[in-house]
Amino acid sequence: MPKKKILITCALPYVNNIPHLGNIIQVLSADVFARYQRHTENEVIYICGTDEHGTTTETIALKEGLSPQEVCDKYYTKHKEIYEWFNVSFDHFGRTSTQFQHNITQDIFLKAYDNGYIFEKDLDQTYCPKCKKFLADRFVEGTCPHCGGNNARGDQCEDCSKVLDAKELINPTCTLCRATAEIRTSRHLFLDLPQLSDKLKEWIESKNNWSQNAKNFSLGWIKEGLEPRCITRDLKWGVKVPLKGWEHKVFYVWFDACIGYISITADYCSKKGEDWEMWWKNQEVLLYQFMGKDNVPFHAIMFPSTLIAANDNYVLVHQISSTEYLNYEGGAFSKSRNRGIFGTDVIDSKIPVDIWRYYIYINRPEKSDVDFTWEDFQKRNNEELVGNLGNFVYRAQSFVNKYYEGIVPEVEDGPEDIEFYRQVSDIVDEMQTELEKTHLKTGLKLAMKISRMGNQFFQENEPWKNEKRRAQTVKTSLNLCATLAIVLEPYLPETTETIWKSLNLNASNHHLLWSEAKQIHLKGGEKMRKPKILFKKLEEDFIKKLKEKYVGSKEEIKEDNVSNMIKYEDFSKCEFKVALVESVEKVEGSKKLLKLIVDIGNEKRQIVAGMAEHYSPDELIGKKIIIVANLEPAKLFGIESQGMLLAAETDKDVTILTVDKDIEAGAKIR
Ligand code: MF3
Ligand code: ZN
Repeated sequence: MPKKKILITCALPYVNNIPHLGNIIQVLSADVFARYQRHTENEVIYICGTDEHGTTTETIALKEGLSPQEVCDKYYTKHKEIYEWFNVSFDHFGRTSTQFQHNITQDIFLKAYDNGYIFEKDLDQTYCPKCKKFLADRFVEGTCPHCGGNNARGDQCEDCSKVLDAKELINPTCTLCRATAEIRTSRHLFLDLPQLSDKLKEWIESKNNWSQNAKNFSLGWIKEGLEPRCITRDLKWGVKVPLKGWEHKVFYVWFDACIGYISITADYCSKKGEDWEMWWKNQEVLLYQFMGKDNVPFHAIMFPSTLIAANDNYVLVHQISSTEYLNYEGGAFSKSRNRGIFGTDVIDSKIPVDIWRYYIYINRPEKSDVDFTWEDFQKRNNEELVGNLGNFVYRAQSFVNKYYEGIVPEVEDGPEDIEFYRQVSDIVDEMQTELEKTHLKTGLKLAMKISRMGNQFFQENEPWKNEKRRAQTVKTSLNLCATLAIVLEPYLPETTETIWKSLNLNASNHHLLWSEAKQIHLKGGEKMRKPKILFKKLEEDFIKKLKEKYVGSKEEIKEDNVSNMIKYEDFSKCEFKVALVESVEKVEGSKKLLKLIVDIGNEKRQIVAGMAEHYSPDELIGKKIIIVANLEPAKLFGIESQGMLLAAETDKDVTILTVDKDIEAGAKIR
């Protein structure tokens, strides 16, 4: 087979959150594919990085008192640590805030602009009057205009997956402060998708290797008619629009994010003194992109359209491999509710990485959503990793130690062995066919089948009593361990390295050709190392504790709600005091207001409060109430109010706060 150039990407994770297991599936999926490809003669690179632009970054920067760049630096490191822990074999894990990103995005934009695929228009956009800013699509929620579902965000509907424009949402609200969002006008740039739609259609129809599903979906979107897509935003943090008069706008994060694949490759190549265009402007390259299902429209329609518009010989996606969602114990993952397993929890768990990897691959949500449960996690480890794989490898290796002092017996294969190798070889081929199609879960199931066949072979040949076949059985089993160490390497890199080393094989199992995996023959007379136990059982108690730890609280910890938070210092500036109500009268001409004279120990204060509908003046006289004593005086209905009283209110009722014991007027509240 001629050598191909395989470019693999995983959807760039948003920088400013800690990824949970459901997110980590994507980097791991692309990792298996990349590791598998490295067992072929193809030239492979695996590119990923953090998606750093957009309002979320600006919002978090505000909250954490950092600059957007500092926020990205901080979270970039966290992402990197997590993926390193998972042994994800990126050739480069970069980021979208580099100079390469700015240059390449601007270049692609200008080419599309010169080719006539960009136009200007005033845009009605969602604006939060309370936060005083235009809202990023993700910060608007409402009802989907297409399916009527209530889970629509401004960029996409969770229910029907349609890509949306935030202004189409019915009853839009600002997710930052819950205020009703309104529509305001601002001038923007648009990518003319209707004008690109024929070219796009022609391209998608030519994609024979796409799944029928992916093809139908994408063609369906085109058939319904693509709308022009707004590609600019009123923000500071992002890639600047390189046109005169547009200095105050940046590109919409989804416009530049996908270009991140290109700029991260450029960053990688520049470090190696290579030309990035060999990967991105070379029609021989096959581009494989891994992502969650919500990302598909951006990679099947938006990004290809952008590249087609630039008309600069860019590589378009060869195959999209997307997954459904992973849920957690019957619900969603939620950082704010401390529910579910996040990258940092996985590291803290002290459970070996390959168990996590195995669990994720064997449950990869390829056809429908999948639920993570601790019970399943424990079962898969105990039955499949310990009971099947670990057991087989240990049996083979302990027998060579017990009967042959750890030396591979010198013996010819019998007909049973030859037949067994043939069966294994068929499955290795089948596995390769599945992996080529990015059916990663099926691939792993086949590998585990090989291991099960090993156990069965061992069992049937009874090397503990069948002396005639003992040497052959042990040798064939050891060879199978070597085969497993190659075909499972993409999934379980640490475990397979342990197997490989214990077989005392040279070089590494990492880049050995797949075609060689099925015909490994250890040399007779070769000394093996002492076997190691590959997997240990996960005990009931241990799993129970983890399950309790990550069930999460029902109450949302309001960490996302930036606008509600104040610093302790700010709070401590308020001075609350107990005040004795001396006299009360209605404010003339107002239905609501009462004027109170209160005693706060060493002084009297006049307070105007909206209590007339809830209390009569007589009810209040003599009460000891709580006031904020250091508010700047304010005028209400033309009358000065020298403080504010505290009251609790619901829709139905209002009640004034008072003290539980008799205490002097003027007492400070702490
Ligand atoms: N950050 C996006 C997400 O997590 C994915 C961006 S993919 C990219 O949903 F290609 F645009 F970078
Ligand atoms: Zn708001």
